[in-house]
Amino acid sequence: MNESTGHAELRIRLTINGERYEHTVDVRKTLVDFLRGDLALTGTHVGCEHGVCGACTIHLNRQPVRSCLMLAVQADGAELMTVEGLSRNGLDSLQTAFWMHHGLQCGFCTPGMLMTAHALLRENPSPSELEIREALAGNLCRCTGYQNIVKAIEHVAAETADSRGRATPG
Ligand code: FES
Ligand code: FES
Repeated sequence: MNESTGHAELRIRLTINGERYEHTVDVRKTLVDFLRGDLALTGTHVGCEHGVCGACTIHLNRQPVRSCLMLAVQADGAELMTVEGLSRNGLDSLQTAFWMHHGLQCGFCTPGMLMTAHALLRENPSPSELEIREALAGNLCRCTGYQNIVKAIEHVAAETADSRGRATPG
């Protein structure tokens, strides 16, 4: 129990972007508020706060989830990846492709778009345009018209297909 707020708290342990964390957290705090407010992982954005816009998408145990719809205590013991985890060694190929294809304007939706696209390409390295658009259907962008985001994801899929082709002895 936190004496100043009167709210119940729990100790949680989790791994985020390969690093272990142990924190005492208000049982009512959302996961996105925990990431941004307690851990300063502000790359994850928060927009609608009720599961509609996708800006807060992160990976939890390798699955994309909306971190505004979960409590931090529900992530106890989990392995998380946030957008910061994509660029631990510089921009990753998706981030570079978004930059090359102008797949962002204000950037507000971009962390969620990247995390959704990353999960798609892990499951399906060669998605069709329709499959990309279906995967992105839960991520809203007010700026780009989506076309350049789709092109960026197609670019990474084509690069992966090329590198697989080169790796396969002819
Ligand atoms: S902030 Fe989580 S879905 Fe919009
Ligand atoms: S780039 Fe502005 S909301 Fe998507």
